Amino acid sequence: MNVAFLGATKGMGRALARQMAARGDRLFLLGRDVAELERSAVDLAVRADSEPVKAAACDLERPETFAPALAAAKEALGKIDCVVVTAGLFGTQDQLEADLDFARRVLTVNYANTVIFCEHARHLLMEGGGGTLCVFSSVAGDRGRKPVALYGSSKAGLSHYLESLDHKYRADGLVTVCVKPGFVKTGMTEGLKPPPFAGDPEGVASRVLAAIDAKKPMVYAPFMWGWIMLVIRSLPRLVMRRVGF
Ligand SMILES: NC(=O)c1ccc[n+]([C@@H]2O[C@H](COP(=O)([O-])OP(=O)(O)OC[C@H]3O[C@@H](n4cnc5c(N)ncnc54)[C@H](OP(=O)(O)O)[C@@H]3O)[C@@H](O)[C@H]2O)c1
Repeated sequence: MNVAFLGATKGMGRALARQMAARGDRLFLLGRDVAELERSAVDLAVRADSEPVKAAACDLERPETFAPALAAAKEALGKIDCVVVTAGLFGTQDQLEADLDFARRVLTVNYANTVIFCEHARHLLMEGGGGTLCVFSSVAGDRGRKPVALYGSSKAGLSHYLESLDHKYRADGLVTVCVKPGFVKTGMTEGLKPPPFAGDPEGVASRVLAAIDAKKPMVYAPFMWGWIMLVIRSLPRLVMRRVGF
C-alpha cells in the first residue's frame, strides 16, 4: 500500500508505521515537528531497507496545512491507498477542567480539526478511485464517564463521524477503520497508573494492521477492551454516577 501517515513519530503511530514499512508498504509522513518527522523517516527507511521516506509539515492545530500536506503526499507516492491518523492530544480531566484554553485545544484537535483533515483525505482517496481511512479514536468516546468527560467527548464525536462515513461511502470504495484503543502504555499515558489489560503499542499496531487488511469498520485494541466496553456501555446511569471509572 501507499500510505500517508499523520502521527508516526511517537507511540502507537510509530509502532504501526514500523510494521507497515517492514512489510513493504510505502509511507509518506505528516506531522507538526519537521525535525521529529525527519528522524522517523530515516528510522523507517533503515528498518525496512527501503527507498528514502519523505515527509511534509501538517499540524492538527493549523487546518491551512492539511491540503498542502496531503497534496505533497500524493505527489511523492503517486496514488494513495491508505491515510492513517494516529495523532491526537490528551489531558486528564483535572488538567482540562483547570485550564479551559488547553481543553479547547484538545477538543479542537481531536474532534473538529481531525474531522476536517479526514474530509480532505476522503476527497483525495475517492478521487483516486477509493481507499482506506484509518483513524484512532478511543474507548473514552463509548460512554460518558467521570475521568474522561472532556477528552472522551472529543473522541465520541470523532467515532460518530467515522461510523457515519463508513455507512455513507463504503459502497463508493471508501473503507473507514475506526480504532478504539483502551489504555496503552505510550508517552500519552506516562505517569498514569495502568489498569488491568493495559496494552503496548506493538500489540495494538498488529491488531490495527490486520483490521485495515480485513477492511473492518471498527476495532478495539487490545482485544479485551471490546468486552470491557460492552459491559460499561450496558451499566445503568445509577451505577455510572456511583463508580469512579
Ligand atoms: N495511549 C492510550 O492509552 C490511548 C487510548 C485511547 C486512545 N488513544 C489515542 O490513540 C492515538 C495515539 O495515541 P498515543 O498514545 O500513541 O499518543 P502519543 O504517543 O502521545 O503520540 C501522539 C502523536 O500525535 C502527534 N500530534 C500531537 N499533536 C499534534 C498536532 N497538533 N499535529 C500533528 N500531530 C500531532 C504527535 O506528534 P509529535 O511528535 O509532534 O509530538 C505524536 O506523533 C491518539 O489519537 C490518542 O488520543 C490513546
